[in-house]
Amino acid sequence: MKSPGIDSVFVTGGGGYIGTVLVPMLLDDGYKVRVLDRFFFGEGKLPDHDNLEIIKEDARHIDASHLAGMDAVIDLVAISNDPSGELFKDATMDINFQSRFRTAKLAKEAGAKRYVLPSSCSNYGYLDEKYVADETSALNPLTTYSKANAEAEAAIMPLADENFCPVALRQGTVFGYSPRLRFDLAVNGMTYGAWKTGKLPLMRDGKQWRPMIHIRDTSRAQMMMLGVDADKIRGEIFNTGSDENVYQIGPLGQLVADTVPGDVEVEWYGDVDHRSYRVAFDKISAIGFDTEFTAVDGVNEIIEALEAGDTDRTTETITLEWYAELVKWQKIIKSVERYGGIIEIDDQD
Ligand SMILES: NC(=O)c1ccc[n+]([C@@H]2O[C@H](COP(=O)([O-])OP(=O)(O)OC[C@H]3O[C@@H](n4cnc5c(N)ncnc54)[C@H](O)[C@@H]3O)[C@@H](O)[C@H]2O)c1
Repeated sequence: MKSPGIDSVFVTGGGGYIGTVLVPMLLDDGYKVRVLDRFFFGEGKLPDHDNLEIIKEDARHIDASHLAGMDAVIDLVAISNDPSGELFKDATMDINFQSRFRTAKLAKEAGAKRYVLPSSCSNYGYLDEKYVADETSALNPLTTYSKANAEAEAAIMPLADENFCPVALRQGTVFGYSPRLRFDLAVNGMTYGAWKTGKLPLMRDGKQWRPMIHIRDTSRAQMMMLGVDADKIRGEIFNTGSDENVYQIGPLGQLVADTVPGDVEVEWYGDVDHRSYRVAFDKISAIGFDTEFTAVDGVNEIIEALEAGDTDRTTETITLEWYAELVKWQKIIKSVERYGGIIEIDDQD
């Protein structure tokens, strides 16, 4: 059901992993949705729907006209993981921080009432395992990606006033099925390896703590922010997840191995991961949010999609590999293209 006073939602990055799950949920609830995305991971992953408008544009070029008539914004757009953020440092700061800050300011000027910033628990970086972070804990962003999120939170939350209600959600690592699947996310990647080869990739040393959240739960949290009493969330930051989905990577790997049918062997990779954070969810729980799914549900639905042939681990499902591939092909195409074509040429003009 739509939240009172909110009829239309502007979703940036709506063609991505979370967006292609969130947007149909918004449409099902009766919202008018305007998606702005470059569609780096391909088009056609969103439904045809009378209430859905698609704008193919770069988030760094959003202007007032894109926001006209929009009651709320869910600003998903981002270079969305640590390795991609390190490969494209400047673009990550520009897109994930500067452009989202600009969009929030434009949204406020255009009269939008709510703005949701999907941030990340990775802003906590490394915490001693005895320490459980709440939203007042000091941040320790270790990567360009987390620095951009932390800066976006710090810049955007102060835009709050009685008419404009921005809120930031520090999501755990997301898992579960989406039409733009990501096998570079822990639970999804482990499931693929275990299912396909019987070898489950596990990042060393397995002791790192990580909050996880199912893709439909995090989408529900974003939608909840459109309706919950504005006085309870205005300018606030919420860790987004639940205690039952906080895992240590080693035991999580074992859980995935036990859920995937057949013999599964753990295959360790990488240097010891320095990102480790245990996180408390009391604040979001106090406003009525709880999760419905666990990692086991995510594993089962990924297996189902793999067995049905609905997905596979292509380059497109690994964010860093896909962006690197696009950049490589752009260079190749630029060098061989003549008169608007490659083999066939269009020399009409
Ligand atoms: N997936 C997770 O585990 C997770 C965890 C915490 C936070 N988040 C945050 O949630 C948001 C969505 O993540 P996701 O997993 O769906 O990522 P994603 O990479 O699947 O989606 C990002 C979308 O943004 C688009 N995009 C990127 N740069 C753009 C630009 N300059 N202009 C227009 N479109 C552009 C891409 O085409 C893509 O559709 C991001 O802000 C991410 O940081 C995700």
